Amino acid sequence: MEATHCRVVVLISGTGSNLQALIDASVHSNFKISAVISNNPDAKGLDKAARDNIETVVVNHRDFDEREEFDLALRKLIDSYDPDLVILAGFMRILGSSFVKHFLGRIVNIHPSLLPKYPGINTHQRALDAGDKEHGVSVHFVTEELDGGPVIAQDRVPVLSDDTADDLAARVLDKEHLLYPKVVSWYAAGRLRLENNAALLDDEALPPGGVQVHA
Ligand code: GAR
Repeated sequence: MEATHCRVVVLISGTGSNLQALIDASVHSNFKISAVISNNPDAKGLDKAARDNIETVVVNHRDFDEREEFDLALRKLIDSYDPDLVILAGFMRILGSSFVKHFLGRIVNIHPSLLPKYPGINTHQRALDAGDKEHGVSVHFVTEELDGGPVIAQDRVPVLSDDTADDLAARVLDKEHLLYPKVVSWYAAGRLRLENNAALLDDEALPPGGVQVHA
């Protein structure tokens, strides 16, 4: 893979603040966003991409009777861009196993918790309810296990005594915006890969929580 030409496709469902961080970083980094795809026609992130003259496409899951049909249409569309990496950035649909197998090793996700804690939704409230002193974000390779693929990197934030879930989400989001472009640039530089269900950086298998970043 040519370091300056890593082509990525970004999948979103909502606000797209991580997408914006990736767009901003891509200007001075080693990856280029070929397209932004959303399952949600109203996703605010679509406007962000269009503002930066990035191609946008909607594949509305509501237009499909079966999840497999949606997955197949999405897969074909992504393949048409021939990307080196598929980036899930707030993409809120569960992807089926044949989709995941097709992109295995070249699809990553960002999740707002310190995985393996709190896969799924409502991660910030769950961290508060559990009385956690620390919370954070994980970037991981996508595998068939929901939010369960090998973690590449994490960053942490403190949980303060008067935090609401929104306070915590905002604090984590700031870290997300720094972490995701960093991980994508590792991949684009050919430093990161998935092998035997382990994440490797510079040929070294990463520990369970991945690289601990302090941005
Ligand atoms: C982010 O916090 C991201 O980690 C989370 O959705 C938010 C999207 O925000 N993703 C998940 O929960 C996936 N399970 P954004 O649209 O502003 O980037």
